[in-house]
Amino acid sequence: PVATMKDYFKNDFTIGAAIPVSHVNGADPKADSIVTLHYNSIVAENCMKCEKIHPEENVYFWDDADAFVKYGTDRGMEIIGHTLLWHSQLAPWFAKDSLGNNVSADVLKQRMKDHITTVMTRYKGKIHGWDVVNEAILDDGSYRKSPFYEIIGEEFIPLAFQYAHEADPDAELYLNDFSMSVPGKRDAYVKLIKDLKARGLRIDGIGMQSHIGMDYPNMEDYEKSIVEFANTGVNVMMTELDMSALPTVQMGANISDSVAFNAMRNPYPDGLPAEVSAHWNARMDSVMNLYRKHSDVITRITFWGTQDGMSWKNDFPMHGRTDYPLPFDREYNLKPFMQNMINGESSS
Ligand code: G3I
Repeated sequence: PVATMKDYFKNDFTIGAAIPVSHVNGADPKADSIVTLHYNSIVAENCMKCEKIHPEENVYFWDDADAFVKYGTDRGMEIIGHTLLWHSQLAPWFAKDSLGNNVSADVLKQRMKDHITTVMTRYKGKIHGWDVVNEAILDDGSYRKSPFYEIIGEEFIPLAFQYAHEADPDAELYLNDFSMSVPGKRDAYVKLIKDLKARGLRIDGIGMQSHIGMDYPNMEDYEKSIVEFANTGVNVMMTELDMSALPTVQMGANISDSVAFNAMRNPYPDGLPAEVSAHWNARMDSVMNLYRKHSDVITRITFWGTQDGMSWKNDFPMHGRTDYPLPFDREYNLKPFMQNMINGESSS
């Protein structure tokens, strides 16, 4: 029998992938067979985001999300909803009135409630858990100045959890964010989880997105976040795991010289050098072993995509990169770090 990820990790955590609409609609049969074979959990990469599923105030678009949920249901998978409230890919109308001005706090609360209730009710009993609020806190621990925060204030988060629990009392509810190893952000989330619990609200898990790189985070900070989040009593989930194989580009770097820019955009025009690939695999092996070490508190690992060619990282932080962040390469072959691990040949 073929060694699979879902069998290998069955006593540790569920193992999943973010799924694009093209895949659900049958346009990528290779990705379909990989996902069906290896994963027991899926999350929608884009189709449940506000601008997609609720593009205008009285218009919901269900086709893609329905197909995604059917895909998971047909395969008996754990289905994760992503995401109910997020400043990015928020439908343009959501926080505005007809003149383009911000709506009042009361109006925005009502819209949040309607949106959360309508979306969750449609998939009640089918979705295992929801990313209720995505990316609400900045690295320094302050609140992101999103429309929700600007109009309602901090209260928008407990309200969102209240509305979500009312809509589907059986669904798990999560907070989700990136850079969760940064101390200021870690501390702010610990405080927020405790605050939600103190108010008697349901919160089941904290999502550490884990869009990581070859040089960040360091494993001590990463582990510290796993432990401190778990100590608040919630489950810990690695919700969007991928690891760029390319040198980190400083955000905001302004490269006016086009040769330097191209070198930064595509540092390996002849493909990923063997030593970089070996380093990438070794680091991913350590990352997976860190998760296994904490499998008593980590309940899910989700990769943000299936094979390298479909990763958002090929467009980030600039278009036209060629990155190698996922467990399968562009030919849909499982990479050594994972193949060795599930074959029982892990280096550690
Ligand atoms: O659907 C349109 C298509 O019609 C159009 O032709 C094309 C042209 O650019 O754009 C398509 O939309 C793109 C969409 O992905 C689907 O491919 C958007 O431009 C693009 O912005 C969007 O990017 C997504 C990104 O979230 C948006 O912020 C990525 O696929 C998705 O992987 C990424 O996922 C996020 C998580 O939700 C939250 N955490 C970070 C993570 C990575 O950014």
